[in-house]
Amino acid sequence: MNYRHSFHAGNHGDVLKHVVLLEMLDALRAKPSPFHLLDSHAGRGLYDLAGDEAQRGGEYRLGVGALLADPAAATALPLYWAALRDLNPDLSTGGGGLRHYPGSPWLLRRALRETDRLSLVELHPEEHAALKRNLGRDTRISIHRRDAWEALGALLPPNPRRGLVLIDPAFEQRDEFNRAGDALLHGLQRWPTGQYVLWYPIKQRASTDAFIRDIAKRNNAPMLRVELLLRKADSDTRLNGSGLLIVNPPWKLAERLAGPLDFIAAKLAREAGGGLRLDWPNPEKD
Ligand SMILES: C[S@@+](CC[C@H](N)C(=O)[O-])C[C@H]1O[C@@H](n2cnc3c(N)ncnc32)[C@H](O)[C@@H]1O
Repeated sequence: MNYRHSFHAGNHGDVLKHVVLLEMLDALRAKPSPFHLLDSHAGRGLYDLAGDEAQRGGEYRLGVGALLADPAAATALPLYWAALRDLNPDLSTGGGGLRHYPGSPWLLRRALRETDRLSLVELHPEEHAALKRNLGRDTRISIHRRDAWEALGALLPPNPRRGLVLIDPAFEQRDEFNRAGDALLHGLQRWPTGQYVLWYPIKQRASTDAFIRDIAKRNNAPMLRVELLLRKADSDTRLNGSGLLIVNPPWKLAERLAGPLDFIAAKLAREAGGGLRLDWPNPEKD
């Protein structure tokens, strides 16, 4: 396990994932009944953009940094802006004052009400220890140091039985696409009404299309695909973009995402062949 998310925090993939996640959390919070959130690859929960790793990677500058440089970001991405502002009280339009970047666990915790629950899974010992330091003292949250693929089977269905699962692997091993697809489908069998968000990297368009087609063929739950391509996806050696497969999305999610995603694409997907893709590998049910 060599992957460290600190090098990548706030990059284009995080922006896409976190903006979509915040819309889904907002929809969950619209109903009073309690929910349970599960983050199978949690990371450390909080990142210091001034830290050595973030500075060496510098990826956030082409992600959250490029978005916030436009003063219109506050109105185009109100949920994302509010979350960043909570964490960076000095944040100003134009992006001044951005120092800390939220990991998914931090965003998920922020959405919890008194009776909601959050389960976080992280295998790496240092990341797990940091996660406990950053989010540990909250009785609504359980933090597990265990393998995500095993935990996804063991922890589903959760209690209460309303909520969502984020599956955000590092994709550092060859078989992780297969494992992620299998884990998602297995989770769906155990908890068919849960909402699922699977993040995946895009290098070659053809191979990610085949991956999504295979998942959609094996389960007929409604599935929305959202992809942000920085450039044409035809190289095996570069990360050309990323996508989210959203299973059982909340009502009208695609419509709610249209404005925020258009803004993100206009700022981040500026090379030839870049852009957005939103479609339904399995259709929405009435
Ligand atoms: C992409 S990062 C997660 C980022 C986080 N979800 C966010 O949005 O802030 C993937 C994380 O998964 C962890 N990881 C890798 N393999 C794992 C496994 N088999 N089980 C649990 N965690 C794993 C890595 O240590 C890393 O922290």
